[in-house]
Amino acid sequence: MMVKNLQDVTTLHNVVKMPWFGLGVYKVEDGDEVMDSVKAALKNGYRSIDTAAFYDNEEGVGTAIKESGVPREEIFITTKVWNADQGYDSTLAAFEKSMKKLDIDYLDLYLIHWPVKGKYKETWKALETLYKEGRVRAIGVSNFNIHHLEDVMIDAEIKPMVNQVEYHPRLTQEELHEFCKKNNIQLEAWSPLMRGQLADNETLQEMAKKYNKSTFQVILRWDLQNEVVTIPKSIKEHRIIENADIFDFELTEDEMDKISALNENTRVGADPDNFDF
Ligand SMILES: NC(=O)c1ccc[n+]([C@@H]2O[C@H](COP(=O)([O-])OP(=O)(O)OC[C@H]3O[C@@H](n4cnc5c(N)ncnc54)[C@H](OP(=O)(O)O)[C@@H]3O)[C@@H](O)[C@H]2O)c1
Repeated sequence: MMVKNLQDVTTLHNVVKMPWFGLGVYKVEDGDEVMDSVKAALKNGYRSIDTAAFYDNEEGVGTAIKESGVPREEIFITTKVWNADQGYDSTLAAFEKSMKKLDIDYLDLYLIHWPVKGKYKETWKALETLYKEGRVRAIGVSNFNIHHLEDVMIDAEIKPMVNQVEYHPRLTQEELHEFCKKNNIQLEAWSPLMRGQLADNETLQEMAKKYNKSTFQVILRWDLQNEVVTIPKSIKEHRIIENADIFDFELTEDEMDKISALNENTRVGADPDNFDF
């Protein structure tokens, strides 16, 4: 597999195609801020947008998509059910709310945002219902560790198609990635840029210099060569363009290994086995 351009796709286990690259919009304000960044992304060739009910910007995402002029069916939209809404009926209701805000008639990917103990299995049943009814083209989870995935799959009718987790050179999640590969679950990286913390890393800077790229571009290229879907966030058009300009160089195997060796199992977000929200 070699991803050749910004619109290349991975094929999920139900044969739905999902772009390898997309725009994240966490902490982007609803209204002009989110509309401008989504429009900038779509204008520059992005075809995948990652939002969540929790981000409180689904309305702006939906408006930007409509105003972009890019046909709906060419865009892959992800949103997520928030923790407080988990459970069967409440998830179905939360889905309708998100759809109304996004103002779309089908969704591409619906994710369980976090594995809320005692709730996520009922939530999964609701996602299966939505999938079987054709309201959403693919369903998945986020922040699930191996034991969460095993637990959900014991009595799942449909296996998750995607697991979106924190993933960057300081948190390479190798066991989880292996498990997902074995089970045909596409791994997706959130906070791929570790929210900017790796900008000055020497290993990355050396490679960035060699390829005349930024450290951020090197990281995002590493994601794709590792077959991990990636969704960096930026509200600045020049960075939106920069982040996606990674299809004209290739890291060597040795460089890939050197980046993976930066792993320290450190997180910028919460630990899925110990969160209180
Ligand atoms: N499922 C989950 O629980 C979960 C959790 C967190 C995030 N996510 C998803 O993953 C997406 C990405 O993660 P993230 O937003 O946490 O972090 P990120 O993408 O790792 O980093 C975003 C930060 O890096 C900056 N940045 C982006 N491109 C840059 C560049 N080329 N040069 C310098 N700085 C750059 C951005 O600033 P500017 O905007 O000012 O450019 C922003 O502060 C989110 O937006 C969201 O969609 C999901």
